[in-house]
Amino acid sequence: MTIIVAADEKWGIGNKDELLVRIKEDHKNFKELTTGHTVILGRKTLSTFPGGLPLKNRTNIIMSRDPGYSVEGAKVAHSVDELLEMVKDIDDEVFVIGGGTIYDQLLPYCDKAIVTRIDHTYEADTYLHDLDADEEWEITDTSDEQTYFDLTYHFVTYERKK
Ligand SMILES: NC(=O)c1ccc[n+]([C@@H]2O[C@H](COP(=O)([O-])OP(=O)(O)OC[C@H]3O[C@@H](n4cnc5c(N)ncnc54)[C@H](OP(=O)(O)O)[C@@H]3O)[C@@H](O)[C@H]2O)c1
Repeated sequence: MTIIVAADEKWGIGNKDELLVRIKEDHKNFKELTTGHTVILGRKTLSTFPGGLPLKNRTNIIMSRDPGYSVEGAKVAHSVDELLEMVKDIDDEVFVIGGGTIYDQLLPYCDKAIVTRIDHTYEADTYLHDLDADEEWEITDTSDEQTYFDLTYHFVTYERKK
């Protein structure tokens, strides 16, 4: 499984149930990479999407511990074990798209992370594990510098060391 995330300089990823910043080109990149594939997300992250609706043209698996929870047009996994059972036979890319609790729990099962690293520190209440400080991970690709108004950022690929 592959994590896809936008993180600031301190690995902040969200604040008050919102993204830290919305970068149009980053969203476009996210859409291009995930369209046609499976995305896994937490119930709280789904609630931040427009209309609280699953993403179009993707198989959405929403994680919720609530046994009565259902979402039209999406599958629901009630535990990590159930999720792993659901994805084990998928012979295609599966993206973990957040939020914080889902990244934390699924990181051990991921071998790649596509990170939009934003050169700024925001006020944040949700963080991703620091992959730069983790000896099990290494950077395998870094894009050219991207700009969004006065912000700079890079698309950075991390892979679990073999
Ligand atoms: N920067 C980025 O790329 C990015 C991407 C996505 C999200 N975000 C940000 O992340 C924040 C949201 O993250 P979050 O950590 O608060 O919430 P979250 O991870 O999106 O969702 C948490 C919910 O997921 C369900 N869940 C968690 N672990 C589970 C398990 N083992 N089994 C079944 N269900 C499980 C629970 O739902 P129930 O309560 O229904 O049981 C839990 O309340 C927001 O600020 C959002 O904007 C950032």
